[in-house]
Amino acid sequence: MIKAAVIGASGYIGGELLRLLYMHPEVELGTITSRIYVGRRVEVVHPHLKGLGLRFSSPGEVDADVIFLSVPHGESMKIVEEYIGSAKLIDLSADFRLPLGLYRKYYGEHEKPELIDSFVYGLPEVYREEIKRAEYVANPGCNATAVILALYPFRNMISEALADIKAASSAAGRRESIMGMHPERSHVVRIYKTHHHRHEAEVLHITGIKCPFTVHSVDMVRGVFATVYFRISGDERSLFRRLFQEYEGERFVKVIREREGPLKQPNVKYVIGSNYAHLWASYDVENERAMIFAAIDNLIKGGAGQAVQNMNLMFGLREETGLGYLPLHPI
Ligand SMILES: NC(=O)c1ccc[n+]([C@@H]2O[C@H](COP(=O)([O-])OP(=O)(O)OC[C@H]3O[C@@H](n4cnc5c(N)ncnc54)[C@H](OP(=O)(O)O)[C@@H]3O)[C@@H](O)[C@H]2O)c1
Repeated sequence: MIKAAVIGASGYIGGELLRLLYMHPEVELGTITSRIYVGRRVEVVHPHLKGLGLRFSSPGEVDADVIFLSVPHGESMKIVEEYIGSAKLIDLSADFRLPLGLYRKYYGEHEKPELIDSFVYGLPEVYREEIKRAEYVANPGCNATAVILALYPFRNMISEALADIKAASSAAGRRESIMGMHPERSHVVRIYKTHHHRHEAEVLHITGIKCPFTVHSVDMVRGVFATVYFRISGDERSLFRRLFQEYEGERFVKVIREREGPLKQPNVKYVIGSNYAHLWASYDVENERAMIFAAIDNLIKGGAGQAVQNMNLMFGLREETGLGYLPLHPI
């Protein structure tokens, strides 16, 4: 059994990691931490995990084979040296996803630049072989995961794109804010960020495509829906052909091309609760404009599920181990 620890287990990604790791057939949960809830049962913050007998401890010495760092960006780099060398690490924050120049441009100064190169970017559909050999993995951002999966098949064909993203409230984490309160968040369709979203840096780094995002907050608890636009000559058939070629055999990326039923087009509702990404394409002939659509669950394929997928690869397990559950529907 793989002994797993979760640092920052009281957050939304932490809670999802606990749920997935508890059900994983090859994992035994060890230390799970919270600074605020030390000694308390997990159901104090994760009521859906009642009865598992899990308690929070303080982040300190950890005996584990793999440690998930599920803390805010800027915090991982402060604590990472306590854990490095003692176990394999999977960092859910943005701290080790980017080369230093891009990190500085989008986030500011880095406190541990010398450690950046020891992390592999944890998108299995792109870096599967590197992840298998990695000791340290930087798990991608949720918006970045959706946009990269949409654009990666076109990486050598275009240099610019635009993305419009609809994002759920859980993407902001558990911290309290006025704009996150129910009267402000419920029924909302509003701009979260017009441009220069930090995940753009990951898209540029991994695909070589410059793709500014506009991110909107919408009335969902989970989910990312990305619409990615770019100019290319071709037709709808050639877009689909490229997507099918790229993702042939991928367990968790499904190209949608149904002739009937609700799945004629993608919908974030049909991936919620699963590690799946659904992709779809449309082509505007008059304007020679492609549209690629990507739907994921931000807490699973955009976070904890992808981290477990990475762990499976790092420990030589089948990639889908513990991730075989289907989406919840209706939701
Ligand atoms: N939410 C998403 O959809 C999503 C998707 C992909 C990646 N991520 C990334 O995953 C990480 C966690 O996200 P989240 O949404 O779960 O955030 P969150 O709900 O705010 O949880 C973060 C947790 O980290 C703990 N923490 C904060 N500073 C710490 C420190 N210095 N040392 C130890 N623990 C610390 C906090 O727990 P205590 O205060 O109880 O100690 C908190 O519960 C972030 O880096 C985020 O960017 C999030």
